[in-house]
Amino acid sequence: MIFKKLNYNNNNNKISYIYVCVLSLFLIFSFYSLMNKNKFRFKNDLLNDILNQHDSFDIEVTKSMIIKGRTIVMDSLKESRYCEYIDLVYTWVNGSDPKHIESRIYYHNLEQIQHKEKLKKLKEQKLIKEELLKQEQKKKGYRIVGEKKEKRDDDDDYDDDDDDENFEVKLISYEEEESQRFRDYGSLKYSLRSVRKNVPWIRNIYIVTANQIPSWFNTSNSDNIKFIFHEQLYKNKEDLPTFNSNSIESNFWNLPEEVSNCFLYSNDDLFFREKVEVEDFFDNEYYHNIFETDEIISSWTPNAKKKDLWTRTLINTNKILDKTWHFSEIRKNAQHGVQVFNKEMWSIMSFDLKEQLSITSSNRFRKPNDIQIPYAYNQFVKRYSRKYKKMKQNNQYYALTNDDYKNILSEVSFNQDGYKTICLNDLFQFENITNSQSGLKSDIIVDITNFFESLFPAPSPYENIY
Ligand SMILES: *[C@@H]1O[C@H](CO)[C@@H](O)[C@H](O)[C@H]1NC(C)=O
Ligand SMILES: *[C@@H]1O[C@H](CO)[C@@H](O)[C@H](O)[C@H]1NC(C)=O
Ligand SMILES: *[C@@H]1O[C@H](CO)[C@@H](O)[C@H](O)[C@H]1NC(C)=O
Repeated sequence: MIFKKLNYNNNNNKISYIYVCVLSLFLIFSFYSLMNKNKFRFKNDLLNDILNQHDSFDIEVTKSMIIKGRTIVMDSLKESRYCEYIDLVYTWVNGSDPKHIESRIYYHNLEQIQHKEKLKKLKEQKLIKEELLKQEQKKKGYRIVGEKKEKRDDDDDYDDDDDDENFEVKLISYEEEESQRFRDYGSLKYSLRSVRKNVPWIRNIYIVTANQIPSWFNTSNSDNIKFIFHEQLYKNKEDLPTFNSNSIESNFWNLPEEVSNCFLYSNDDLFFREKVEVEDFFDNEYYHNIFETDEIISSWTPNAKKKDLWTRTLINTNKILDKTWHFSEIRKNAQHGVQVFNKEMWSIMSFDLKEQLSITSSNRFRKPNDIQIPYAYNQFVKRYSRKYKKMKQNNQYYALTNDDYKNILSEVSFNQDGYKTICLNDLFQFENITNSQSGLKSDIIVDITNFFESLFPAPSPYENIY
């Protein structure tokens, strides 16, 4: 009916035309507000829902997350547990296991060969391209003056070594690898004893391993210890086997549901030297305590590519955070010690850094484009947690070397500075693997074992008696 009236020859109909326009605008507007109102109500419900479930969530942050469409992440948290108690997660590998050594060598050598082939192909492609260009230029009658270098996107280009045409394939032998890895001096056993002695409030202990169970472990009496094998942890099984701790840690967002929301994370070379309380790591509402060093990490570090691998991963992580949050910042490094984790924060991190975490997960060996997990995680806490407390460093790091270890062990025995945790990083050199069976190696092992036995003499129930 209305359309019939729309007749331009008729003067009256001009008014009808305006009338129709206004009416349709009004209809569109009402429809739009109705839709939005529904949407808004839906979001408010969701917000209340989430806030009811998660006391610790900041309202504003949660709102912004819903607006950014992060509801899927939040929903997944409904399944997870509160911090009624605190668990402890370890990562451990028996580097002396021949199967592990062989697999490591295999993948190392494979990557070297693949890398060389990739370089060869790249070079061939480059030559072909250059040849084509030359021919084209000849046809057009240009003279070639020098060669123009192709511009490369430098931003994420951490795999710059790729370009090295002189890249030499370095295949490693079993002996070499074994001498590097002959390292299991039983640290895990004593680290666990230190937990029983000085952190008795830990509920469950989860040890993440590549199907390995320590030889001294009695599985028929496993007490509060459980093992999580890499296959259970990794979402992407193609990333396995892995020899990269960054890769393992990058999958922590996927820890089994039974692991408490609040958990501590430790390496097997870390020991609780003194009694610690929950308050050393969480406040009374289970908000994080943060441990940072004075070392600052900047995305603008000069000559970053010449730095050691560890530093490069830190700089890479900082760049990723800058990019993700659209804000360049200089950030403080995380203390190398016990790390405080909460699964809710992990969930947020796994959302923001989804792609980068999966890259890290796929790096079988450490690479410059790895994410440094504790460092990245602390930045998430600072950004998203309503409250957190900065703590004084409570860990002392020592590098055990052939020359120094005796002094270090006696220093740790006295612990005059009262450090709560001690990291004893194994930097021993076993130069002569063939002699070391009876020589150097066993000396050091005996010294270290005596040292540990004096500090933590009580065996745990899950240690084999014989
Ligand atoms: C590590 O593996 C080696 C070789 O299989 C074995 O002799 C040793 O007992 C293992 N160490 C631990 C702590 O499981
Ligand atoms: C290793 O062996 C070489 C030659 O056999 C010897 O000169 C060197 O002192 C040895 N090093 C150690 C740490 O035993
Ligand atoms: C392991 O624990 C069980 C149960 O306590 C005990 O009977 C067994 O002797 C232990 N095994 C070893 C090898 O110590």
